[in-house]
Amino acid sequence: MSVSVDLGADERGGSVGLDLAELLSTRLLVQGNSGSGKSHLLRRLLEGSAGTVQQVVIDPEGDFVTLSDAFGHTVIDAPAYSLSEVATIGARIREHRASAVLSLEGLEVDDQMRCAAAFLNALFDAPREQWFPALVVVDEAQLFAPAAAGEVADDARKASLSAMTNLMCRGRKRGLAGVIATQRLAKLAKNVAAEASNFLMGRTFLDIDMLRAADLLGMERRQAEAIRDLERGQFLGLGPAIARRPVLVRVGAVKTGTNHAAPVLLPLPGAADSELLLKPGPAPAREIAPPPPPPRPAELIHAIQAPPALPELPQLSDEDRGDRLQGVLRSLAASFTGQPAPALYQDFTIGCRMGGIAPVPSLSEFRKLFALALAGINDEESWSEALAIGAALPEDMLAPFMAIARAARDGAACPEDGELARIYGTASLGRVKRLLGYMEERGVIVIRNDLGGGRSIALPHLAWTTASTSRAA
Ligand SMILES: Nc1ncnc2c1ncn2[C@@H]1O[C@H](COP(=O)(O)OP(=O)(O)O)[C@@H](O)[C@H]1O
Ligand SMILES: [Mg+2]
Repeated sequence: MSVSVDLGADERGGSVGLDLAELLSTRLLVQGNSGSGKSHLLRRLLEGSAGTVQQVVIDPEGDFVTLSDAFGHTVIDAPAYSLSEVATIGARIREHRASAVLSLEGLEVDDQMRCAAAFLNALFDAPREQWFPALVVVDEAQLFAPAAAGEVADDARKASLSAMTNLMCRGRKRGLAGVIATQRLAKLAKNVAAEASNFLMGRTFLDIDMLRAADLLGMERRQAEAIRDLERGQFLGLGPAIARRPVLVRVGAVKTGTNHAAPVLLPLPGAADSELLLKPGPAPAREIAPPPPPPRPAELIHAIQAPPALPELPQLSDEDRGDRLQGVLRSLAASFTGQPAPALYQDFTIGCRMGGIAPVPSLSEFRKLFALALAGINDEESWSEALAIGAALPEDMLAPFMAIARAARDGAACPEDGELARIYGTASLGRVKRLLGYMEERGVIVIRNDLGGGRSIALPHLAWTTASTSRAA
């Protein structure tokens, strides 16, 4: 299926199209000074392809929330959620193939970065059966993939840079097509910019940006001046989804506005799932079944190698089911060396099937159960207070946090750095130091180093404290 989105008019008044199928595999980079018309261009692209492909917008300024009225996009107002809730919502958005706008307006830059990272990672980590094509539009991408370390917290910058790198470098296989806009190429991390094969270059004043843009467009340097003369809304386009030679396009009108209420043009049927998608808590059972993807050779092989289902599975009692589930989780936790969640989940699914455990818990449920298993906890119910606090941390910190909580509640010795490193999935003790520093900064733990060289950690919300680590012999 070839779908072309009409971007606007070329110099002779002919239409300049953007080939959607090609765009999905070759990505797009938009550059232009503030006010050059980048957001307008992105909106034109989104409006022209809404209803044809799933769209996810990372929107630092809350510009795109108006797509909701006209096209039924689910708006996620980030300040209203915790990071782990944002991740859960991201996973559901992917599962239900819903179009969405993650509005980060009102958050500090650090939190914008953490939030975008959690959301993008959830899209990226979706299980294979959900790898449908989706446009992932990131406006002001230099915020999320900055070329240089700035004023922002290290953890936030790393998380969002790595999520953006995943999106642009490894997203394609998963159906995720990055469309990113930036004010200045020089401010955008090189590896993120390098993965786009389509460019739309708008008005740019600084020589360094003009020259880089001209380079990307394959223009001679003396022609670069032309980029300075572009008007608002004019872009030079090049790439497999646009044209083989640089083409000047005047971006056409848009239907939705930025801030004022937009006319309802094309309400999508079945778009009223926001409540389901946004509800905090564990993912509900899937209600919209996506069409099954065509079988792929790799999946067929996988199906052949998977253990055959027994003719009639014996009904498990709740207790047996719980025991078996814990058995699968324990053995995965014992061999954990930092494998990514989707890979672990695949092993988990197989383990569940082998153990006759059905239904298999969802990926997001698995993440929590696995974090608890890493922390040596198998009775979730009795840890709800600690889990509520852990929910304020990025999801990957839950396991080490719960290990500390467990030691603290039991009054046992504080886990050693090496043990925390193992369950955090890293070999680096430096990362563990930063992890603890981050938790302390967030106020979920208080670290006390005693004069004897030992360390104890308190959870101030729960008034639990670990015993001190035994002094190194
Ligand atoms: N092609 C266009 N046609 C009409 N108005 C445009 C066009 N491009 C941009 N504008 C208007 O110019 C202003 C700045 O555009 P915007 O897309 O917000 O710029 P940027 O995102 O690059 O800072 C907005 O008011 C927008 O509506
Ligand atoms: Mg803008």
